[in-house]
Amino acid sequence: MDKFVIAGGTALEGEVATSGSKNAALPALAAALLTDKPVILRRIPKVRDIRTMQRLLVDIGTQVEVADETVQLRTERIVCPEAPYELVKTMRASSLVLGPLVARCGRARVSLPGGCAIGARPINLHIFGLEQLGARIHQEHGYIEAQAPDGLRGATVHFDRITVTGTEDLMMAAVLAKGETVLLNAAREPEVGDLAELLIQMGARIEGAGTSTIRIQGVDRLEGADHRIIPDRIEAGTFLIAGAITNGELAVTGCNPDHLGALVAKLQQAGVEVRQPDATTLRVRSGVPLRSVDMTTEEFPGFATDLQAQYMALMTQAEGIAIVVETIFENRFMHAQELARMGANIRLEGKQAIVAGPRLLTGAGVIASDLRASASLVLAALVAKGETVIDRVYHIDRGYERIEAKLAGVGANIRRVE
Ligand code: EPZ
Repeated sequence: MDKFVIAGGTALEGEVATSGSKNAALPALAAALLTDKPVILRRIPKVRDIRTMQRLLVDIGTQVEVADETVQLRTERIVCPEAPYELVKTMRASSLVLGPLVARCGRARVSLPGGCAIGARPINLHIFGLEQLGARIHQEHGYIEAQAPDGLRGATVHFDRITVTGTEDLMMAAVLAKGETVLLNAAREPEVGDLAELLIQMGARIEGAGTSTIRIQGVDRLEGADHRIIPDRIEAGTFLIAGAITNGELAVTGCNPDHLGALVAKLQQAGVEVRQPDATTLRVRSGVPLRSVDMTTEEFPGFATDLQAQYMALMTQAEGIAIVVETIFENRFMHAQELARMGANIRLEGKQAIVAGPRLLTGAGVIASDLRASASLVLAALVAKGETVIDRVYHIDRGYERIEAKLAGVGANIRRVE
């Protein structure tokens, strides 16, 4: 297993470019199942989860051609409408093929995702929505079997809690259903809006994506598309925090500042100078000592849960007490113990983490537990005194493209050891 060796203490200076969004690319890849025409997707990040999804699509029957950051897909016919446990257990976003498969060929057999480090993460709302659209679903041997031999029909689906991939799954199921579907309490994340733009380019009729009510008029078939994925707001946010925590001056280019409003507001409250020199760049510069600022994660446009661990690392360096509340997942504080081993003062109380700072962090051997927790350990290591060795960095490779090269490019002392 690869490790990162990081010597802390250098301020990050310069420019770092944002890759395409993993969480927009995953549903976009699944959307290629909805048509027999070619779909071209651009700015696809080279990360592990994308390779996993591409492998899954090939097994289902899609021809996939990757040329640098452009992926061309064509599913002339569905050979095997299945998502096997071997793949799903490594990436729960595999459930994004459920809606498209039922819509395209009237059936799907998808492994239940099983738990993951940050929580139970069931897909009951995906199942509930598909049943509303007329699919017959039963579960056995750890798999969901969905049938809709006569096709799906439009319905109103009221999500009893906001689910990002649940909204995406149902939007993809509804575009080929007969009649109108209304998704209520839908997720408003930018990745949902990007998927809707792709589907509309393919000929789907969708209104309201990006709001909590999405209306979809089913059509008989979809055409191909050529779509450029939005930039990764979580990667961009991670780098903004990296610039702040190392007291550097870092420009994050190729991002979309409109997707980072909650983080930028928090950083400014904490005393970080954040500028927007142009439409796709944010620049951070830490001047005054950092101030502790409370934060609660919320669905978009609130503060993203995927940036909570990174923000917690930053608050270990801030003056005062910061109360960090995680409202989306039930077990997303595993980075706290590892940060504490580096010297952070963090007390966990249920959904709250009380972070007292500033604390001098010292390098240590730590273990990554999940994608974003590992990012927070990298951030802490960048500011810690001495050397940190982070084990199991395959977690970070799931969602960050060449992170060690990007960080080294702006002055970090980081290397990967096999
Ligand atoms: C998406 O996961 C993201 N993944 C996650 O990013 C992100 O943390 C999450 O949204 C929240 O923003 C992708 O887009 C591929 P949810 P998703 O359904 O869709 C519960 C990363 O780091 N729930 O919005 O799986 C669920 O347990 C990943 O890139 C149900 O109870 O998250 C959670 O508590 C991590 N039943 C809450 O809703 C369901 O059927 C929100 O989950 C579905 C979800």
